[in-house]
Amino acid sequence: MPNLDPNSQTDVGTLTPEAAREECERLSAELSEHNYRYYVLSRPTVSDGEYDRLFRRLQAIEVRFPELRAEDSPTQRVGSPPVSALPTIRHTAPMLSLDSTQDEADVRRFDERIRKAAEHEIEYLLEPKLDGASLELVYENGLLARAVTRGNGIVGEGVTENVRTIPSVPLRLRSAERPVPELLAVRGEALMYLSEFEALNERVVNMGGEPYVNPRNSASGALRQLDSRSTAERPLEFLAYDILLVRGASFETDWEGFQALGDWGFKRPERVELTRDVDGILAYHAAFGRDRDDLDYEIDGVVVKLNHLTTRVDLGSTSHHPRWALAFKFEPRKEVTRIERIAVSVGRTGKITPVALLRPVEVGGVTVSRASLHNREELLRKDVREGDLVRIQRAGDVIPQVVERVAEDARTRAAPFEMPNLCPACGTPVEEDGPFTVCPNRFGCPAQLKRSIEHFGSRGALDIEGLGEETATQLVERGLVRELANLFDLKIEDLVGLEGFAEKSASKLVDAIRTRRKVELRRFLHGLGVPEVGATVAGELARHFRSFERIREASREDLEDVSGIGPKMSEVIHEFFRDPRNSAAIDAILSKGFEFGLPPAPAGDSLAGKKFVFTGGLDGLSRSEAKKRVESLGGRVVSSVSRDTDYVVAGNDPGSKLTKAQELGVAVLDENSFRELIETPSSRTPVRAEPADDMTAAPEDGPTGASRSGHD
Ligand code: IVH
Repeated sequence: MPNLDPNSQTDVGTLTPEAAREECERLSAELSEHNYRYYVLSRPTVSDGEYDRLFRRLQAIEVRFPELRAEDSPTQRVGSPPVSALPTIRHTAPMLSLDSTQDEADVRRFDERIRKAAEHEIEYLLEPKLDGASLELVYENGLLARAVTRGNGIVGEGVTENVRTIPSVPLRLRSAERPVPELLAVRGEALMYLSEFEALNERVVNMGGEPYVNPRNSASGALRQLDSRSTAERPLEFLAYDILLVRGASFETDWEGFQALGDWGFKRPERVELTRDVDGILAYHAAFGRDRDDLDYEIDGVVVKLNHLTTRVDLGSTSHHPRWALAFKFEPRKEVTRIERIAVSVGRTGKITPVALLRPVEVGGVTVSRASLHNREELLRKDVREGDLVRIQRAGDVIPQVVERVAEDARTRAAPFEMPNLCPACGTPVEEDGPFTVCPNRFGCPAQLKRSIEHFGSRGALDIEGLGEETATQLVERGLVRELANLFDLKIEDLVGLEGFAEKSASKLVDAIRTRRKVELRRFLHGLGVPEVGATVAGELARHFRSFERIREASREDLEDVSGIGPKMSEVIHEFFRDPRNSAAIDAILSKGFEFGLPPAPAGDSLAGKKFVFTGGLDGLSRSEAKKRVESLGGRVVSSVSRDTDYVVAGNDPGSKLTKAQELGVAVLDENSFRELIETPSSRTPVRAEPADDMTAAPEDGPTGASRSGHD
């Protein structure tokens, strides 16, 4: 790094510490201001060349005097060395979601409810609903202290270093127009402008990569990089729209807060307006709806928020959303295309699904070329046939659907599509199960076998690395695996000839398969692909019966004793194990010599005397199941939080009980910690609630976090 700037008067090497400090501060302030003018106001007042010159001078001084390099120095936006995982951090204030509707009638009802509760004349703040990734930024004494993804609204992933690289995020709040508050928690959206997103995708494709599906995934992937230097290379923007918490400033209306955000240097959504009535809301929604396709960013509706802040407090929140705000969404995007062919696909459990193969069409930024037609009855109801023109819809992340047929004059239509009588993969006569068509040849059908192998080896089951879709297909097509048990007979020589395998990878896979004969019972059960038995139910079964043979022999009544299993499920599971073909296949697998691991037996009274309060929804457990579990271990579930509550379990979108717990210092558990507690034999001492920024969690989808595919 050069420490001599040709354009400057003084050689950095001869600067006194005093002079260096002075110049450093001046340059930092000057560069921050230019940054703000360029990235936030889009009105630069210096040339790029001049900016670069100042930047390099600052860099040079900081290299010579590292102690002068401030946390908020403009040179600190380039990213820092990678971390091994993103920490889990508790939000300063819960990040609720928004109630949403597409119906004008709901907007009117929302307005009526608010009018009833309000003592003042009503005013609404109207904003575009940005389709990006929600973030909380916290500033302490004006300095960016942390940035946290929304996560479950209570805790999220700490992405501070990544967020520092976003040029429109102030590293220090501006104080020129308004004093800086002691504490400020801001909510906003990280997003990518469409033009930038397209340019990024072009670069990715040119480098031989797969393009990102949409700007939102791309933005959230970029935010969750472990190496902030990669985030710095992505064109992220941050638009602030809400003050979650402020200490050292106060506002009567959201509008005032919104102005303050501008003064403090944030970029904000454009076209924010105030209105006094529903007509104003409708007009705003209609206008944005018309302009939607011309914007350089994705929006999926508009947000209506009550402007007056004390009335907001009176209205309060449900556990999911505030009662003072509403997302008024647009209709999902629809496109018209033609069905080129209708094919059927055989699923892992034998369900035969008709699939419309479409002339590829772009719906809301994603190319769609197939859409499930679900089953025989759906086909009939929609009356879609090969060659028909159809309307396709995709709402957000939702899988594309065929909405309806578009009538055409003077066109001879194909005959109605008939589901096959024989399984297209194995020729077994199909059976009907309600609206579904099913191939009953569970373990003998190659299509089902391929998918079963893939499932058996999947991460939640036996977790066999290298046993993916391609390998499974080859194993079945070459006749190397005719039933799951054959996997355990595979030899290195069998694999070496397959595509993608050499001596080393073949021996690795053979080893991986062999060693997985020692496996937790719940994984094995899940891997078998018993209908209705996903990872959660498999875990319950293992915990309850503690032996594979006992599960296999269980009566329907025995099965219904297991938490999470009702009459319908018990019937299906019971039938599965009674079927002679399934039985033979299982015997064959077991003959390969398995050893099953079990979870530790619960002590039975490990939670004796402990009081629990639940708030928010749990993902893998219903409220009543959770209650049963606590009670079975001797604990009690009560409805309100007090000082003698031992634990508050906060799931998704928790409500005011969480805040109460935090105020009282009651231990708060998220779903995972709660599960650990009910699955661990000995009782534990509650941990007092504290900002949990020392907890670590791995990001869900690996280093990029983005799902990348150009197609549906
Ligand atoms: S206000 C509790 N304003 O929409 C209300 N949210 O579906 C706080 N969103 O996760 C949110 N644009 O990230 C608000 N102008 C806007 C928004 C907005 C997008 C997101 C937000 C939230 C989601 C709710």
